[in-house]
Amino acid sequence: MAIKKKNTVSKNTEPAKIIDGKVIANHITDEIKRLLKINNTIKPGLALILVGSNPASEIYVRMKEKKCAELGFYSVINKISEKVSEMELLAHIRAYNNSSKIHGILIQLPLPKHINERKVLEAVDFRKDVDGFHPMNAGRLLIGEKCFIPCTPAGIFELIKRYNVETSGKYAVVIGRSNIVGKPIANLLLQKTKGANCTVSITHSGTANITEFTKNADIIVAALGKPEFLKANMIKEGVVIIDVGINRIEDSNSPKGYKVVGDVDFKSCSKKASMITPVPGGVGPMTIAMLMKNTLDSALKKIYN
Ligand code: GUN
Repeated sequence: MAIKKKNTVSKNTEPAKIIDGKVIANHITDEIKRLLKINNTIKPGLALILVGSNPASEIYVRMKEKKCAELGFYSVINKISEKVSEMELLAHIRAYNNSSKIHGILIQLPLPKHINERKVLEAVDFRKDVDGFHPMNAGRLLIGEKCFIPCTPAGIFELIKRYNVETSGKYAVVIGRSNIVGKPIANLLLQKTKGANCTVSITHSGTANITEFTKNADIIVAALGKPEFLKANMIKEGVVIIDVGINRIEDSNSPKGYKVVGDVDFKSCSKKASMITPVPGGVGPMTIAMLMKNTLDSALKKIYN
């Protein structure tokens, strides 16, 4: 007589493994230092263009400059008045395009409203476009050719590979369709390569029912910019969650009066997920590390020669 097995639903009782972006970012900076020792005649140079005085942009640019100093890169911050004309800004870019000391050009976004962002990003020599925002790099990413990959999605992809997340044949759902994160990470996960080969959906503010997608996802990348948007009831057990959000919310318990949270409700989702990135300390530290890697690759002519 066959013994009927009790129909038990296996529940994941283990908390999610933390994907530590600080540790991986440090590995990447160590690798850059090692590569620079080997190629000791090369000094990668990065031009950072900051237009206006957006406080967040000023902090980001200073962090990038500090990282350059730590790694022995040459860097220049070009702080330009908010009132600059488009023509003048384009002239600054042309000067860096022609400078042999500069291998990477980064224009901190957002730009003032009177400036056409697309026109400015397209003025950067695509061979020095370490942000990966030029249409040449965006297009090459789409068709799977060597290119500069935008730093945040490049960082997410590194985390996925270095934590051996199973991706081939898995269903990945990206929340958010920005040119900086959503579209490029969807393209990376779609490629027929290691750390990818996923079936991918991009959901966004126009998606009728995001939960219909996220409930079935094996991997979720949340990059929509809404604090703690993704809740435990929107995901399945064992999902891998990458949280790209950096949002300030009021917190009367903090001396600063606010705390930083991601686009994922970490407390509830980490009980159901198998792996998750924290905020802060997940994707954030990876962005600058990948900017440094792109700048080094440019100096070494690894992408274009
Ligand atoms: N503003 C917000 N994110 C980014 C980024 O990745 N690169 C640049 N240049 N500006 C930004």
